[in-house]
Amino acid sequence: MTNGVHRFSAVQRELRDRFAGIVETGDDWIEVGRIGEGESESWRVRNPADDMVGVAKPGPPRADQDGHFRAAHEKIAFDLAHLIGLPVSPVVLWPKDIGTVYKVGRSISCWAFPQGDKWNVAEGKGLISAIQKQSVAAEVAAMRVFHAWIGDGDRKPDHVFVDTDSPPDRLNIAFFDHGNSMSAAWKGPNANCGVCGHYLAGVPEDKDTMLAVAEHIAACSDSNVQALVDRIPARYLPTGPRGHIIQNLLARKGNLRGLVGI
Ligand SMILES: Nc1ncnc2c1ncn2[C@@H]1O[C@H](COP(=O)(O)OP(=O)(O)O)[C@@H](O)[C@H]1O
Ligand SMILES: [Mg+2]
Repeated sequence: MTNGVHRFSAVQRELRDRFAGIVETGDDWIEVGRIGEGESESWRVRNPADDMVGVAKPGPPRADQDGHFRAAHEKIAFDLAHLIGLPVSPVVLWPKDIGTVYKVGRSISCWAFPQGDKWNVAEGKGLISAIQKQSVAAEVAAMRVFHAWIGDGDRKPDHVFVDTDSPPDRLNIAFFDHGNSMSAAWKGPNANCGVCGHYLAGVPEDKDTMLAVAEHIAACSDSNVQALVDRIPARYLPTGPRGHIIQNLLARKGNLRGLVGI
């Protein structure tokens, strides 16, 4: 699976690889306005250096969220997906106002495709054909295993971004919103948490890919996985939840067939 299960264009692959190479952005992103949906009350941001758009999460600071490490989860999820070769929208950490306004920092998740809609919106507009749904069976199967690995039960059609410039017989998709994964679900070692089922109607279940991806994740070296968690600076992720994340990722990675039920 060296090329991964995705159909990102060369431009998108470049962005993905570049974001995987950095932990924190040093750019002066501009806050453009509220996104206007989602529990994190995220803000739309723009990088004036290259006009890249993205979503900064979380939005307005809330004291009850200081122990919710959304930014760290978003970044680790993207980095792990990159390690495996799976289509997650590129994420960097954004240090602006960390420790003051934003106690545990923010992440920026960028558009995987220059043009697109969330799956539910594209579906509502009738933009996704039956053939296109069939064409994403492998990606959807792979991501189901991945989400079981990272303890993410918060999966739904409006966390899938659809490239509205996809060819008629193939759909390009990317997954986002991993703020509620990992330490949000794992409060200790060997944590129990539910896994999500199949939630995209019309997409066939591809068991062969699920099995292949479970094996592929199991074969990733523990040190590579741990290194991606450990490179997150402490101000975004304190020692306790960091340890739980590493322990659960390593414990679950060899047990994905059982967790997913395949
Ligand atoms: N990478 C992305 N690509 C496209 N849209 C995004 C992306 N990240 C966030 N969004 C938009 O921002 C909204 C809120 O983001 P989300 O990650 O779902 O945060 P929340 O934690 O608030 O649910 C989404 O519903 C979507 O419209
Ligand atoms: Mg969301």
